[in-house]
Amino acid sequence: MSLRYTLKPLALFVGAIFAIAPPASFADDLPVKIGFAAPLTGANAGYGKDLESGVRLAIEEANAQKIKIGDKVAQFTLVSQDDQADPRIGVQAAQKLVDSGVAVVVGHFNSGTTIPASQVYEQAGIPVIDPAATNPVITGRGFANTFMVISTDGQNAGNAGAYAVDVTKAKRIAIIDDRTAFGQGEADEFEKAVKAHGGTIVAREYTDNHAVDFSTQITKIKGTNADLVFFGGLDNQAAGFARRMKQLGLNAQLVGGGGVMDPDFIKLAGEAADGVMAWEYGRPLAQLPGGKDFSAKFKKRYGEDILSYAPFGYDGAWAAIKAMQQARSSAPTAYRPALKAIDFEGVTGKISFDSTGALKSGASTLYQVKNGAWVPIVTKSGT
Ligand code: ALA
Repeated sequence: MSLRYTLKPLALFVGAIFAIAPPASFADDLPVKIGFAAPLTGANAGYGKDLESGVRLAIEEANAQKIKIGDKVAQFTLVSQDDQADPRIGVQAAQKLVDSGVAVVVGHFNSGTTIPASQVYEQAGIPVIDPAATNPVITGRGFANTFMVISTDGQNAGNAGAYAVDVTKAKRIAIIDDRTAFGQGEADEFEKAVKAHGGTIVAREYTDNHAVDFSTQITKIKGTNADLVFFGGLDNQAAGFARRMKQLGLNAQLVGGGGVMDPDFIKLAGEAADGVMAWEYGRPLAQLPGGKDFSAKFKKRYGEDILSYAPFGYDGAWAAIKAMQQARSSAPTAYRPALKAIDFEGVTGKISFDSTGALKSGASTLYQVKNGAWVPIVTKSGT
């Protein structure tokens, strides 16, 4: 008799047992879909993948810990959507996540996608936890389902404006932004703070988020004798701007808002990176209690270093998981109150929300490029 024939009755027998009584671990599982959306292709893909890696790490840890929601062991799965950093595609991505039955969304990356996508989540009653988009409008509309685990540009660019006047003592300040919801939003917040601190704005220039040539704006700014230029936009363009400033002989302090302090900026700007300042969200990771462990864990799992916002993605996912655990339910109506009241020490610091869903104790840090590396200069809590 061949082995095939001897095994067949046994296989049928085992199959019958499973059909009658599935193993306890299956019967007690509660499947929970965690949605994620960010640019996973295009110029911002590096940021999106970094964030996604942070969210995945939290999910894998939660599954390994066999987290219980009520009396069931939760089986978290990640459902990702590529929003391509495009507001229209962002809305479609949000709808796809809602339709797929996610319990929560961690996303998006750009303010330009997060603002319209959060309307979709609000209408569907699904909480969205924003780990990266920073326009203050995001939590400024009174939505019950929008939460941020990152500080806003009201705080970050607000600090940049105050510092430019009070500490750098700039006398003639110019501003340029990429006309996105993010870049323009932070430029507006910077301008507001400069004015509130008695500073003088000598130029307000614009580009768009695909431009590679900034000669016209730099020539205009040079003509105003500006001593400080604030760049509202992301790292790739800020690097091109820094290089062109140097070529055209505009000798002013370049200051970026969030999204400029990135390893790519130094690579792309070359020599022009030296001395550039950038305000980033949160505290330096290495100075936080769990920061070093998280960096090591990330490197072990992915074989590469954190690029930028992965720790915020990780904290965002854990905020949702902890809220579901506390509420003993993954139903948004049931766990939303627990999410509103959440309070824990995340990798990025304390995670708790004010009444609008904004991060309660956000911080922002000024960095400067010194000898080819970003060096933290000062951290501010609040504005
Ligand atoms: N903070 C950036 C934005 O809001 C990524 O778009």
